[in-house]
Amino acid sequence: MYPDQRGGGVSDAPHASVLLKPVLDFLRPRAGVGFRALDCTVGAGGHSFGLLDRSSPDGRLVGLDADPYALELAVAALAPFQSRFSLLDRNFSELAELDLEPMDAIVFDLGLSSMQLESSGRGFSFRLDEPLDMRFDPRSERRTAAELLNTLPEAELERVLREYGEEPRARRVARIIAQRRQTRAFQRTGDLVAAVTAALGGARGRIHPATRTFQALRIAVNEELGALEAGLDAAVQLLRPGGRLAVISFHSLEDRIVKWRFRAWADQGGVHILTRKPITPDNQELQLNPRARSAKLRVVERIA
Ligand SMILES: C[S@@+](CC[C@H](N)C(=O)[O-])C[C@H]1O[C@@H](n2cnc3c(N)ncnc32)[C@H](O)[C@@H]1O
Repeated sequence: MYPDQRGGGVSDAPHASVLLKPVLDFLRPRAGVGFRALDCTVGAGGHSFGLLDRSSPDGRLVGLDADPYALELAVAALAPFQSRFSLLDRNFSELAELDLEPMDAIVFDLGLSSMQLESSGRGFSFRLDEPLDMRFDPRSERRTAAELLNTLPEAELERVLREYGEEPRARRVARIIAQRRQTRAFQRTGDLVAAVTAALGGARGRIHPATRTFQALRIAVNEELGALEAGLDAAVQLLRPGGRLAVISFHSLEDRIVKWRFRAWADQGGVHILTRKPITPDNQELQLNPRARSAKLRVVERIA
Protein backbone atom coordinates (compact mmCIF):
# COMPACT_ATOMS: atom_id res chain seq x y z
CA MET A 1 0.00 0.00 0.00
CA TYR A 2 1.22 3.51 -0.74
CA PRO A 3 1.20 6.28 1.83
CA ASP A 4 -1.69 8.71 1.34
CA GLN A 5 -0.34 11.38 -0.95
CA ARG A 6 -3.40 13.57 -1.10
CA GLY A 7 -2.33 17.08 -0.41
CA GLY A 8 -4.46 20.20 -0.45
CA GLY A 9 -5.47 21.33 -3.88
CA VAL A 10 -8.96 21.95 -5.17
CA SER A 11 -11.62 20.69 -2.72
CA ASP A 12 -10.61 17.15 -1.77
CA ALA A 13 -9.21 16.27 -5.18
CA PRO A 14 -6.14 14.05 -5.07
CA HIS A 15 -2.68 15.40 -6.07
CA ALA A 16 -1.94 17.29 -9.28
CA SER A 17 -3.14 15.27 -12.27
CA VAL A 18 -1.38 16.06 -15.52
CA LEU A 19 -3.34 18.32 -17.93
CA LEU A 20 -6.43 18.01 -15.75
CA LYS A 21 -8.17 21.16 -16.97
CA PRO A 22 -7.83 20.51 -20.71
CA VAL A 23 -8.86 16.88 -20.22
CA LEU A 24 -12.03 17.95 -18.42
CA ASP A 25 -12.72 20.76 -20.90
CA PHE A 26 -12.49 18.32 -23.82
CA LEU A 27 -14.41 15.51 -22.14
CA ARG A 28 -17.22 17.84 -21.00
CA PRO A 29 -18.50 15.99 -17.91
CA ARG A 30 -22.00 17.29 -17.18
CA ALA A 31 -25.06 16.62 -15.06
CA GLY A 32 -28.52 15.47 -16.05
CA VAL A 33 -27.66 13.65 -19.28
CA GLY A 34 -26.79 10.19 -17.95
CA PHE A 35 -23.08 10.99 -18.43
CA ARG A 36 -20.83 7.91 -18.36
CA ALA A 37 -17.04 7.98 -18.24
CA LEU A 38 -14.27 5.42 -18.33
CA ASP A 39 -10.86 6.13 -16.81
CA CYS A 40 -8.48 3.45 -18.11
CA THR A 41 -5.63 4.54 -15.80
CA VAL A 42 -7.21 5.57 -12.50
CA GLY A 43 -3.94 5.88 -10.53
CA ALA A 44 -4.56 8.15 -7.55
CA GLY A 45 -7.93 9.06 -9.04
CA GLY A 46 -7.32 12.68 -10.06
CA HIS A 47 -8.92 12.60 -13.51
CA SER A 48 -11.68 10.32 -12.20
CA PHE A 49 -12.36 12.78 -9.39
CA GLY A 50 -12.71 15.65 -11.86
CA LEU A 51 -15.03 13.67 -14.14
CA LEU A 52 -17.28 12.62 -11.24
CA ASP A 53 -17.21 16.04 -9.60
CA ARG A 54 -18.17 17.94 -12.74
CA SER A 55 -20.92 15.45 -13.64
CA SER A 56 -22.50 15.54 -10.17
CA PRO A 57 -25.00 14.49 -9.06
CA ASP A 58 -25.72 11.70 -11.55
CA GLY A 59 -22.64 11.09 -13.76
CA ARG A 60 -21.09 7.62 -13.44
CA LEU A 61 -17.57 6.33 -13.91
CA VAL A 62 -15.80 3.01 -14.39
CA GLY A 63 -12.11 3.05 -13.55
CA LEU A 64 -9.37 0.55 -14.34
CA ASP A 65 -5.84 0.17 -13.10
CA ALA A 66 -3.45 -2.73 -13.48
CA ASP A 67 -1.91 -1.89 -10.08
CA PRO A 68 -4.14 -3.13 -7.25
CA TYR A 69 -2.40 -0.85 -4.72
CA ALA A 70 -3.15 2.23 -6.81
CA LEU A 71 -6.83 1.26 -6.75
CA GLU A 72 -6.83 1.13 -2.95
CA LEU A 73 -5.81 4.79 -2.96
CA ALA A 74 -8.34 5.66 -5.62
CA VAL A 75 -11.19 4.11 -3.62
CA ALA A 76 -10.35 6.48 -0.75
CA ALA A 77 -9.96 9.50 -3.05
CA LEU A 78 -13.29 8.87 -4.79
CA ALA A 79 -15.21 8.04 -1.59
CA PRO A 80 -17.26 11.30 -1.76
CA PHE A 81 -18.96 9.94 -4.90
CA GLN A 82 -20.09 6.73 -3.19
CA SER A 83 -22.14 4.55 -5.52
CA ARG A 84 -21.43 6.53 -8.72
CA PHE A 85 -18.21 4.71 -9.59
CA SER A 86 -16.84 1.21 -9.84
CA LEU A 87 -13.15 0.29 -9.98
CA LEU A 88 -11.70 -2.81 -11.61
CA ASP A 89 -8.14 -4.04 -11.15
CA ARG A 90 -7.70 -4.89 -14.80
CA ASN A 91 -5.19 -4.09 -17.51
CA PHE A 92 -6.65 -1.90 -20.25
CA SER A 93 -5.29 -4.39 -22.78
CA GLU A 94 -8.30 -6.49 -21.68
CA LEU A 95 -10.83 -3.69 -22.24
CA ALA A 96 -12.58 -5.50 -25.08
CA GLU A 97 -13.40 -8.39 -22.74
CA LEU A 98 -15.04 -6.28 -20.06
CA ASP A 99 -18.48 -5.89 -21.63
CA LEU A 100 -18.88 -2.23 -20.62
CA GLU A 101 -21.73 0.07 -21.62
CA PRO A 102 -21.17 2.81 -24.22
CA MET A 103 -19.30 5.83 -22.85
CA ASP A 104 -19.47 9.62 -23.30
CA ALA A 105 -15.86 10.11 -22.23
CA ILE A 106 -12.77 7.91 -21.99
CA VAL A 107 -9.35 8.92 -20.69
CA PHE A 108 -5.94 7.24 -20.72
CA ASP A 109 -3.15 8.92 -18.69
CA LEU A 110 -0.31 6.61 -19.58
CA GLY A 111 2.80 5.40 -17.80
CA LEU A 112 3.30 5.38 -14.09
CA SER A 113 2.24 7.62 -11.24
CA SER A 114 4.59 9.52 -8.98
CA MET A 115 3.51 7.19 -6.17
CA GLN A 116 4.65 4.18 -8.14
CA LEU A 117 7.92 5.93 -8.90
CA GLU A 118 8.58 7.07 -5.36
CA SER A 119 7.00 4.60 -3.00
CA SER A 120 5.95 1.33 -4.65
CA GLY A 121 9.20 -0.46 -3.72
CA ARG A 122 9.15 -2.04 -7.20
CA GLY A 123 12.24 -0.47 -8.70
CA PHE A 124 10.74 2.06 -11.12
CA SER A 125 13.19 4.78 -10.08
CA PHE A 126 16.94 4.81 -10.58
CA ARG A 127 17.15 7.20 -7.63
CA LEU A 128 16.09 4.54 -5.10
CA ASP A 129 17.78 1.22 -4.35
CA GLU A 130 14.98 -1.35 -4.65
CA PRO A 131 14.34 -4.82 -6.10
CA LEU A 132 14.19 -4.73 -9.92
CA ASP A 133 10.54 -5.68 -10.40
CA MET A 134 8.78 -2.94 -12.45
CA ARG A 135 5.51 -4.85 -12.93
CA PHE A 136 2.44 -2.62 -12.62
CA ASP A 137 0.63 -5.66 -11.24
CA PRO A 138 2.97 -7.48 -8.85
CA ARG A 139 0.62 -10.50 -8.85
CA SER A 140 0.97 -11.04 -12.58
CA GLU A 141 3.04 -13.78 -14.11
CA ARG A 142 5.00 -11.36 -16.25
CA ARG A 143 8.77 -11.54 -16.01
CA THR A 144 10.27 -8.93 -13.71
CA ALA A 145 12.91 -6.44 -14.84
CA ALA A 146 15.55 -8.55 -13.05
CA GLU A 147 14.43 -11.67 -14.92
CA LEU A 148 14.65 -9.88 -18.27
CA LEU A 149 18.09 -8.48 -17.45
CA ASN A 150 19.37 -11.88 -16.35
CA THR A 151 17.91 -13.98 -19.17
CA LEU A 152 17.38 -12.02 -22.41
CA PRO A 153 20.01 -12.74 -25.06
CA GLU A 154 22.36 -9.78 -25.44
CA ALA A 155 21.02 -8.91 -28.91
CA GLU A 156 17.46 -8.89 -27.60
CA LEU A 157 18.50 -6.67 -24.68
CA GLU A 158 20.07 -4.29 -27.17
CA ARG A 159 16.83 -4.21 -29.20
CA VAL A 160 14.75 -3.49 -26.09
CA LEU A 161 17.05 -0.62 -25.08
CA ARG A 162 17.15 0.81 -28.59
CA GLU A 163 13.44 0.47 -29.40
CA TYR A 164 11.79 1.15 -26.07
CA GLY A 165 14.40 3.45 -24.54
CA GLU A 166 15.57 5.11 -27.76
CA GLU A 167 19.03 4.63 -26.22
CA PRO A 168 21.61 5.54 -28.88
CA ARG A 169 24.32 3.52 -27.14
CA ALA A 170 22.14 0.44 -26.63
CA ARG A 171 24.81 -1.94 -27.84
CA ARG A 172 27.29 -0.75 -25.25
CA VAL A 173 24.81 -0.90 -22.37
CA ALA A 174 23.64 -4.39 -23.42
CA ARG A 175 27.24 -5.57 -23.64
CA ILE A 176 28.07 -4.43 -20.08
CA ILE A 177 24.86 -5.96 -18.71
CA ALA A 178 25.66 -9.27 -20.41
CA GLN A 179 29.19 -9.20 -19.00
CA ARG A 180 28.17 -8.30 -15.47
CA ARG A 181 25.43 -10.90 -15.13
CA GLN A 182 27.98 -13.66 -15.71
CA THR A 183 29.49 -12.96 -12.31
CA ARG A 184 26.45 -11.74 -10.40
CA ALA A 185 22.75 -11.71 -11.25
CA PHE A 186 20.98 -8.35 -11.40
CA GLN A 187 18.73 -7.95 -8.38
CA ARG A 188 18.43 -4.31 -7.43
CA THR A 189 18.08 -0.97 -9.18
CA GLY A 190 21.52 -0.05 -7.83
CA ASP A 191 23.04 -2.97 -9.82
CA LEU A 192 21.51 -1.61 -13.02
CA VAL A 193 22.47 2.02 -12.36
CA ALA A 194 26.06 0.85 -11.75
CA ALA A 195 26.09 -1.08 -15.05
CA VAL A 196 24.68 1.83 -17.06
CA THR A 197 27.08 4.25 -15.44
CA ALA A 198 29.97 1.90 -16.27
CA ALA A 199 28.76 1.83 -19.89
CA LEU A 200 27.90 5.50 -20.40
CA GLY A 201 29.68 7.45 -17.67
CA GLY A 202 28.11 9.25 -14.70
CA ALA A 203 25.32 11.81 -14.56
CA ARG A 204 25.82 14.87 -16.74
CA GLY A 205 23.25 17.57 -17.29
CA ARG A 206 19.57 17.17 -16.40
CA ILE A 207 18.93 13.69 -17.79
CA HIS A 208 20.42 10.79 -15.79
CA PRO A 209 22.19 8.28 -18.05
CA ALA A 210 19.98 5.45 -16.70
CA THR A 211 16.73 7.20 -17.68
CA ARG A 212 16.40 5.52 -21.08
CA THR A 213 17.36 2.08 -19.80
CA PHE A 214 14.79 2.23 -17.00
CA GLN A 215 12.08 3.39 -19.42
CA ALA A 216 12.94 0.59 -21.84
CA LEU A 217 12.75 -2.11 -19.19
CA ARG A 218 9.48 -0.86 -17.77
CA ILE A 219 7.91 -0.86 -21.23
CA ALA A 220 9.22 -4.37 -21.92
CA VAL A 221 8.17 -5.80 -18.54
CA ASN A 222 4.59 -4.52 -18.90
CA GLU A 223 4.38 -4.91 -22.70
CA GLU A 224 3.11 -1.35 -22.65
CA LEU A 225 2.99 -0.62 -26.37
CA GLY A 226 0.94 -3.70 -27.24
CA ALA A 227 -1.39 -2.93 -24.32
CA LEU A 228 -1.83 0.63 -25.61
CA GLU A 229 -2.75 -0.53 -29.12
CA ALA A 230 -5.27 -3.05 -27.80
CA GLY A 231 -6.66 -0.57 -25.27
CA LEU A 232 -7.15 2.23 -27.82
CA ASP A 233 -8.84 -0.05 -30.34
CA ALA A 234 -11.28 -1.29 -27.70
CA ALA A 235 -11.86 2.21 -26.31
CA VAL A 236 -12.94 3.78 -29.61
CA GLN A 237 -15.52 1.01 -30.02
CA LEU A 238 -16.97 1.87 -26.63
CA LEU A 239 -17.61 5.54 -27.44
CA ARG A 240 -21.17 6.71 -27.97
CA PRO A 241 -21.68 8.89 -31.06
CA GLY A 242 -20.37 12.30 -29.98
CA GLY A 243 -18.36 10.65 -27.19
CA ARG A 244 -14.73 11.69 -26.75
CA LEU A 245 -11.48 9.87 -26.09
CA ALA A 246 -8.51 11.71 -24.51
CA VAL A 247 -5.03 10.21 -24.29
CA ILE A 248 -2.04 11.65 -22.42
CA SER A 249 1.29 10.14 -23.45
CA PHE A 250 4.75 10.74 -22.02
CA HIS A 251 7.21 9.64 -24.67
CA SER A 252 7.45 9.59 -28.41
CA LEU A 253 6.77 5.85 -28.79
CA GLU A 254 3.40 6.19 -27.09
CA ASP A 255 2.56 9.46 -28.82
CA ARG A 256 3.32 7.94 -32.22
CA ILE A 257 0.92 5.06 -31.59
CA VAL A 258 -1.82 7.44 -30.46
CA LYS A 259 -1.27 9.81 -33.38
CA TRP A 260 -1.35 7.06 -36.03
CA ARG A 261 -4.34 5.29 -34.49
CA PHE A 262 -6.29 8.57 -34.44
CA ARG A 263 -5.34 9.29 -38.07
CA ALA A 264 -6.37 5.83 -39.21
CA TRP A 265 -9.76 6.12 -37.48
CA ALA A 266 -10.28 9.61 -38.95
CA ASP A 267 -9.41 8.33 -42.45
CA GLN A 268 -12.04 5.62 -42.04
CA GLY A 269 -14.60 8.30 -41.12
CA GLY A 270 -15.04 7.03 -37.55
CA VAL A 271 -13.77 10.04 -35.60
CA HIS A 272 -12.96 13.74 -35.77
CA ILE A 273 -9.54 14.68 -34.44
CA LEU A 274 -10.05 17.58 -31.99
CA THR A 275 -6.34 18.30 -31.38
CA ARG A 276 -4.55 19.01 -34.64
CA LYS A 277 -1.41 19.47 -32.56
CA PRO A 278 -1.08 17.80 -29.16
CA ILE A 279 -1.91 19.90 -26.09
CA THR A 280 1.03 20.33 -23.70
CA PRO A 281 1.20 21.69 -20.14
CA ASP A 282 1.49 25.47 -19.74
CA ASN A 283 4.21 27.16 -17.70
CA GLN A 284 2.08 27.35 -14.60
CA GLU A 285 1.52 23.58 -14.61
CA LEU A 286 5.18 22.91 -15.35
CA GLN A 287 6.23 25.00 -12.39
CA LEU A 288 3.94 23.05 -10.08
CA ASN A 289 4.72 19.68 -11.62
CA PRO A 290 7.99 19.47 -13.60
CA ARG A 291 7.29 15.77 -14.32
CA ALA A 292 4.52 16.88 -16.67
CA ARG A 293 7.09 18.32 -19.08
CA SER A 294 6.88 15.55 -21.67
CA ALA A 295 3.08 15.13 -21.52
CA LYS A 296 1.06 15.35 -24.73
CA LEU A 297 -2.72 15.24 -24.91
CA ARG A 298 -4.62 14.15 -28.02
CA VAL A 299 -8.41 13.90 -28.28
CA VAL A 300 -10.89 12.46 -30.79
CA GLU A 301 -14.69 12.55 -31.02
CA ARG A 302 -16.70 9.63 -32.34
CA ILE A 303 -18.79 10.50 -35.35
CA ALA A 304 -22.47 9.58 -35.20
C1 LIG B 1 -0.02 8.45 -14.66
S1 LIG B 1 -0.84 7.32 -13.66
C2 LIG B 1 -2.50 7.87 -13.70
C3 LIG B 1 -2.77 9.03 -12.79
C4 LIG B 1 -4.24 9.42 -12.74
N1 LIG B 1 -4.74 9.86 -14.03
C5 LIG B 1 -4.48 10.48 -11.71
O1 LIG B 1 -4.94 11.57 -12.06
O2 LIG B 1 -4.24 10.21 -10.53
C6 LIG B 1 -0.93 5.91 -14.69
C7 LIG B 1 -1.64 4.73 -14.05
O3 LIG B 1 -1.92 3.83 -15.11
C8 LIG B 1 -1.73 2.53 -14.67
N2 LIG B 1 -1.47 1.71 -15.86
C9 LIG B 1 -0.40 1.75 -16.68
N3 LIG B 1 -0.55 0.87 -17.68
C10 LIG B 1 -1.75 0.26 -17.49
C11 LIG B 1 -2.48 -0.73 -18.19
N4 LIG B 1 -1.98 -1.30 -19.30
N5 LIG B 1 -3.69 -1.09 -17.74
C12 LIG B 1 -4.22 -0.51 -16.62
N6 LIG B 1 -3.57 0.43 -15.88
C13 LIG B 1 -2.34 0.81 -16.33
C14 LIG B 1 -0.56 2.61 -13.71
O4 LIG B 1 -0.61 1.53 -12.79
C15 LIG B 1 -0.79 3.97 -13.05
O5 LIG B 1 -1.49 3.83 -11.84
